[in-house]
Amino acid sequence: MTVITKVGVVGLGLMGSGIAEACARAELTVTAVEYDDQAVAAGLARVRASLARAVAKGKLDHDEAPAVMQRITATTDYTRLADVDLVIEAATENEDAKLAIFRRLDETVHESAILVSNTSSIPIARIAAATRRPDRVMGMHFFNPAPVQRLVELIPALTTSPETIASIDQFTWGRLGKSVIYAQDRAGFIVNALLVPYLLSAIRMLDGGHASREDIDAGMVQGCGHPMGPLTLVDLIGLDTVKAMADVLFGEYGDSQFASPPLLARMLESGQVGRKSGRGFYDYPDVSQV
Ligand SMILES: NC(=O)c1ccc[n+]([C@@H]2O[C@H](COP(=O)([O-])OP(=O)(O)OC[C@H]3O[C@@H](n4cnc5c(N)ncnc54)[C@H](O)[C@@H]3O)[C@@H](O)[C@H]2O)c1
Repeated sequence: MTVITKVGVVGLGLMGSGIAEACARAELTVTAVEYDDQAVAAGLARVRASLARAVAKGKLDHDEAPAVMQRITATTDYTRLADVDLVIEAATENEDAKLAIFRRLDETVHESAILVSNTSSIPIARIAAATRRPDRVMGMHFFNPAPVQRLVELIPALTTSPETIASIDQFTWGRLGKSVIYAQDRAGFIVNALLVPYLLSAIRMLDGGHASREDIDAGMVQGCGHPMGPLTLVDLIGLDTVKAMADVLFGEYGDSQFASPPLLARMLESGQVGRKSGRGFYDYPDVSQV
């Protein structure tokens, strides 16, 4: 089994910053890689803001926040990942981009290290096949916000070795304190294969004039006990990520329940990406709160 103490994270966006925080709060040393200096700064600011929220809610000691921050180094230099034990890739949901990242990681990171992807919908087999270590690649799918949500879906590819599965299983619950479910390597795994058609149906319902955004959301919150309505949830996930997931699921299953509604594309073309852009189905005037 691989004992994991040094973790690399690729992408410090919504998910990567949360994953980096979750790892640093578990006393792991984290090296995060971003695209450019601006993204490095934005990612670190997101972690800082999230830690401040955890302190304000009494979930983290005031004194611990700086120590957590100190365990995270962020850079644009992939060679800084050379000696980590595990890399968690959380870059933009784009297959070509992810395959390029995994090729690069395979060249850069120590050959015994495990590489996992936080992809929401891209088959892990394709990602594993881009490397020369397909036995040490698997899916590790966190939920947003990663420091708070307990669930992690683990997705072994057909090529993933039992040792890799055991190492990641132990790391996920033993070190990060998460609860684990296993899915076959099918697009969407368990949760998104069920969630995405539901979210797309809510967008179609709004687009068709069936009900207002508030009533669609209130219906599922008050009628079904969901913590938030589907349109609020699309804003939280990001319209770009939801569309990317829908496109991959449609490609995998060819089923119309996964077809992306035109309104989703039009909103994205208009820059309405959800909370992270300040506007989605609702307005978020203070983007720094995101
Ligand atoms: N948003 C969610 O709720 C959610 C939940 C689970 C999994 N995911 C998955 O997590 C991944 C990231 O999603 P997100 O919502 O954090 O997206 P995001 O757009 O917030 O963040 C992606 C980050 O990756 C960076 N990036 C892009 N190319 C890079 C590269 N070559 N090297 C380093 N960094 C690079 C971008 O600069 C950006 O900061 C996706 O695969 C997504 O499907 C998202």
